[in-house]
Amino acid sequence: MISGINSRSLEDRYIAKTYQKLEVNVAKAKGSLLWDQEGKKYIDLMSGYGVAILGHSNPAITDAIKAQLDSVIITHGSMYTPSRGEFLRKFMSVAPSRDGQVYMSNSGTEAVEAALKIAIRATGRKKIIAMERGYHGKTLGSLSLTHSEKYKKGIEGLIYPHVEFLPFGDADIIEGRKDLDEIAAIFVEPVQGEGGIFLPPDDYLKRIRQITSDHGIMLMTDEIQTGLGRTGKLWAFENWNIVPDIFTAGKGIGGGIPMGVTWARQEYMEKLPVGSQTSTMGGNPLACAAGTAVLNQLTDTMLDRVRKAGEKFRKELQAGIGDHRLVKDVRGIGLMLAIELRVRFVEILLRIIQNGAVPLYSGINIIRLLPPYVIEDSQISEAVSIIAGALENEKTQREASQ
Ligand SMILES: Cc1ncc(COP(=O)(O)O)c(C=O)c1O
Repeated sequence: MISGINSRSLEDRYIAKTYQKLEVNVAKAKGSLLWDQEGKKYIDLMSGYGVAILGHSNPAITDAIKAQLDSVIITHGSMYTPSRGEFLRKFMSVAPSRDGQVYMSNSGTEAVEAALKIAIRATGRKKIIAMERGYHGKTLGSLSLTHSEKYKKGIEGLIYPHVEFLPFGDADIIEGRKDLDEIAAIFVEPVQGEGGIFLPPDDYLKRIRQITSDHGIMLMTDEIQTGLGRTGKLWAFENWNIVPDIFTAGKGIGGGIPMGVTWARQEYMEKLPVGSQTSTMGGNPLACAAGTAVLNQLTDTMLDRVRKAGEKFRKELQAGIGDHRLVKDVRGIGLMLAIELRVRFVEILLRIIQNGAVPLYSGINIIRLLPPYVIEDSQISEAVSIIAGALENEKTQREASQ
């Protein structure tokens, strides 16, 4: 036993029941592996919901955090601090253009809140287009842009009312609108993550980039799940050769220390006056030090690794389970993969976990994989065989009960 505390009973008793819990009690994590309190090992196929992109306990990140702990942990945004400057220098070197500024916060949802505020203030318009199946967070502003009705139940009155949801991937429907000059922004995930890993048609982002430019609409791409190399490019919008007016980054950007970043073209960001958007912890030195260590490791070699590992994972899944009776589709880009099932995932997911791998899920029938980029080839093969075994088991059980 790694630690004697019964965290399961304490969490079940004292934490609000807003999380769907998985039966894993993580006591230690390294690279692409997790260990529970009894020392049982799991292959991590979810990276703490897409955060541990460079592997758990990544030495460059933990060293940067330790070094920062010894100098300064907190400096409010109203003062200057060296690790923030270093982070900004690095971030701006990988941002799509130098003509931009960032707002720094502590989570993805906050980064989206800021983007929404910028879009409305900078355009002086109210209407926003967001996408069916899209996800942008659960605080009230970002929740307005998240499609799923179930998250808004009971609090409809608190939601920003001028959001219209359109089918992801359909540029004609946007092009045909009569009110384009009244729209403040289009919010889109380049690849829909929470929705179940859906890629856009090849010309989609290019077309909406053109429409938005023609009509003074801000194009916002949410890179919180897709960004920082997840799709094999640093920013997913690069896959379709566009540059947005605003984008958000989160999850892995702070190397596990909470951090969110909203990048916007300077002319838009300048529309936020002093005091209009601040956060006590946003851009704190610890997160910045970790963030710089993360960005430093996202080299071309690392992105190449994501592409190769992603291709291997996808091919092995196709070969291993592509024709399985319970599988409808295997898809994805980079290390952002989905197995769409013909049945509900619950039993299969539980079996995968029992057998030593921890995936994510979407909706009711999609198993989602967001492994760390450092996942080894042998771990990919082992994960595929665990997933295949769980599917086979489910099939046998179903046949026996027929
Ligand atoms: C695309 C996207 N936007 C926003 C968020 C919200 O991020 P956070 O949970 O850090 O608030 C998420 C989280 O999954 C996401 O995938």
